[in-house]
Amino acid sequence: MAAIKVDELHHEYNDRGRAVTAVDHVSFEVEENEFYTLLGPSGCGKTTTLRCLAGLEVPTSGTIEMDDVVVFSSRGVVPTHRRDIGMVFQDYAVWPHMSVFENVAFPLHTGKRLPGRVIKDRVHEALELVNMAEYVDRKATQLSGGQQQRLSLARALVRQPKVLLLDEPLSNLDAKLREQMRKELRFLQRRVKVTTIFVTHDQVEALSMSNRIAVMNKGVIIQVGTPREIYQTPHSEFVAAFVGATSFIQGTVTTIDTDAAQVTLDTQIGKLVSDLHIELGVGDLVTVAIRPEAMRVSSDPFPGPNNLEAIVDIGLFVGDAVDYHVHVGDELLRVKGSPRSHYRRRDKVFIDVPPAECVLILRADEGPAELARPEDTLEPVMIDTTA
Ligand SMILES: Nc1ncnc2c1ncn2[C@@H]1O[C@H](COP(=O)(O)OP(=O)(O)OP(=O)(O)O)[C@@H](O)[C@H]1O
Ligand SMILES: [Mg+2]
Repeated sequence: MAAIKVDELHHEYNDRGRAVTAVDHVSFEVEENEFYTLLGPSGCGKTTTLRCLAGLEVPTSGTIEMDDVVVFSSRGVVPTHRRDIGMVFQDYAVWPHMSVFENVAFPLHTGKRLPGRVIKDRVHEALELVNMAEYVDRKATQLSGGQQQRLSLARALVRQPKVLLLDEPLSNLDAKLREQMRKELRFLQRRVKVTTIFVTHDQVEALSMSNRIAVMNKGVIIQVGTPREIYQTPHSEFVAAFVGATSFIQGTVTTIDTDAAQVTLDTQIGKLVSDLHIELGVGDLVTVAIRPEAMRVSSDPFPGPNNLEAIVDIGLFVGDAVDYHVHVGDELLRVKGSPRSHYRRRDKVFIDVPPAECVLILRADEGPAELARPEDTLEPVMIDTTA
């Protein structure tokens, strides 16, 4: 049974008299206890979707159901405080003039009055969950970034909500702490069993934490799937480019071998053989998307069908790999090499592209790949091994 059902959710803001569509007829369902992520570039409508779910924004149209209760439709709105939700905002705003205890207790003062002892127990329980019990009497301002983060989570969980809405809760933390909090948050979510909608523009966060990911662009959900589906079989150039580094090669289908489930393509870099995983006909225009880690690089030729001759443009040492940019004809491919490899600029190398690793995308069904932000792919340490 779906815990959350969103149907044709549409939201327009009024920007000085001009309508701005932030969420464009979006529909999705989230299962009970699922960790469901909305992933997409800045401005694609993630926060707006979450705010509509929280009741902080009154949608222009659509329906939202939580636990079989319609909380928004054209017929009416259930106000935020009567929705069974906990929320952590993008800037996780803890209240600086309050102690840790008061921050966490705050949501318990809305709605039905609870006895002091019950409030105390609930606050302790919530702080215990996030390993913060010892800080109960501290002022909120006397906490580190990670501790403030945990505090805001405790505050969101204190009412034991059915649904947890998290808007980029880890984005203000440094890289190391973010990694640790990813794990903590995921363990916590499993332990307390709460249906969670998590918003991020960070692909690694989305891939590592989610049961399912909905990739958004320009107010629309363009693909929903498990992290593996999203990463390994993107349906569009946008998804492939946004979720990890990818090289794209344009080609035309020349032959189809249905017995072997393979196709031959005439591409910008010559003939390529690919496994057949979508419906195609001879003459179809396709984009072949290949991940850097799917290819191999060597100074000797490979025996496979897609052995490409290449010239090294640059090799960026990133610690656990070398991020090679190589020219194959006029095209530039990114290939992940072993950290021990040491090819230099202008070296001739061979690249192996296994047919099973080619992801075929039927051309021109949506926006161009350059919408993806390159800084969201690899974060290379710029040490040029080819110098
Ligand atoms: N109050 C507002 N008035 C007018 N336009 C708005 C308002 N809030 C958001 N928008 C616009 O709506 C669109 C979606 O914004 P939203 O905040 O939902 O994006 P987002 O995906 O959360 O982005 P980010 O990753 O930067 O937080 C953007 O084009 C934004 O400029
Ligand atoms: Mg946002």
